[in-house]
Amino acid sequence: MHKVASKAVDWAAIRKDFPILEQSVHGQPLIYFDNAASSQKPRAVVNAIRDYYERDHANVHRGLHALSMRATEAYENSRQRVADYIGASSANEVIFTRGTTEGINLVAAAWGGKFLHSGDVVLLTEMEHHSNLVPWQLLAEHSGVRLRFVPVEEDGTLALDEIDSLLTSEVKLFAFTHISNSLGTINPVAELCRKAKAVGAVTLVDAAQSAGHYPLDVQELGCDFLAFSGHKMCGPTGIGALYGRAEILDSMPPYHGGGEMIVSVTLEKSVFKKAPHRFEAGTPNIAGAIGLAAAMDYIDGIGRPAICQHDSELTRRAIDGMSSIPGLRIIGPTHDPGTLVSFVMQSAHPHDLTTYADRSGLAMRGGHHCNQPLMRKFGLPGTTRASFYFYNTAAEVDRMIEILQAAARFFS
Ligand SMILES: Cc1ncc(COP(=O)(O)O)c(C=O)c1O
Repeated sequence: MHKVASKAVDWAAIRKDFPILEQSVHGQPLIYFDNAASSQKPRAVVNAIRDYYERDHANVHRGLHALSMRATEAYENSRQRVADYIGASSANEVIFTRGTTEGINLVAAAWGGKFLHSGDVVLLTEMEHHSNLVPWQLLAEHSGVRLRFVPVEEDGTLALDEIDSLLTSEVKLFAFTHISNSLGTINPVAELCRKAKAVGAVTLVDAAQSAGHYPLDVQELGCDFLAFSGHKMCGPTGIGALYGRAEILDSMPPYHGGGEMIVSVTLEKSVFKKAPHRFEAGTPNIAGAIGLAAAMDYIDGIGRPAICQHDSELTRRAIDGMSSIPGLRIIGPTHDPGTLVSFVMQSAHPHDLTTYADRSGLAMRGGHHCNQPLMRKFGLPGTTRASFYFYNTAAEVDRMIEILQAAARFFS
């Protein structure tokens, strides 16, 4: 990941945009370090959704009245906003989904269902979230498609020197995460896409953990698909986007059937709209799309270069502080800190440690993080994960270290 200079940002003022952070939990000030699971929402996003419902709501694409036209315009403007945010060449390359999970399932069902055949290989990595594993298992079960995995090294990085031997001509798709949600590993997306392209494989990037933190440009990355979720990047739940390169989307059959995605229907058959509307059957999440666009405006108002620098500084501080805690071991790379740190304490199960921290107002995630095969590989029941966002502070990280020191004494 390239390092970029941070502009001067008033982080304390930004934090005030998140009223939820002002509360106490169990009598202690809330420290919210569960951002990799879901981020909090600024007032600007909540207001955008409320304004839409109070002023403009109607169904989209089919109304011949003012409200419907306004709603349609707002919905389609949001699509353009997403395209700009990820550097897509056209809004037609952006499909609104429920989130990363649905985006990957859409690719597996619509693209995989048509283009993958018995004997073809889908290359994944051992660090994939279940949402980039189970859809491929479901496809493999009935199609004869085989799954192959790039191993994860002891230090939590991908075995990059094995990529060339794994990327054989049988590989038709390489689907991998940009940032591991349980290790924090940042994968070299552009390099992996270039290698996949060289053998003619299509690429899908799971950007669930990167879209809210890092500048993303799908054309620079050279990927064919990219999926992410709004709720991890200041947007509402139930909305996300799938980017697909235009010529690939145009070659794909629909995913779901229903209203909004057709040109004409007879009792026998239907003619479908072009992408992206072909992939959005039924009334879409209009308010969600508007909220997602507002989240993107908010994030870019701060600046993604500043955000990723801020978040990696907090991660660095956390890693340094944890080095002094007896029995605590960090799981994942420590040399190029991203946005989260995953760790285990010798004397405490991750659930017990995470519950202990909650008693002090510190919200983290404890468990397998939807990465069961990876946890099994590391011989762990799970980890505790602290994940940071731009509204978190160095003082909160220092307080987390104090709480973990107390936990180490408590459990020893
Ligand atoms: C790397 C990664 N991929 C996919 C997902 C699934 O995202 P969603 O549940 O929003 O679909 C997550 C969620 O934690 C994730 O961290």
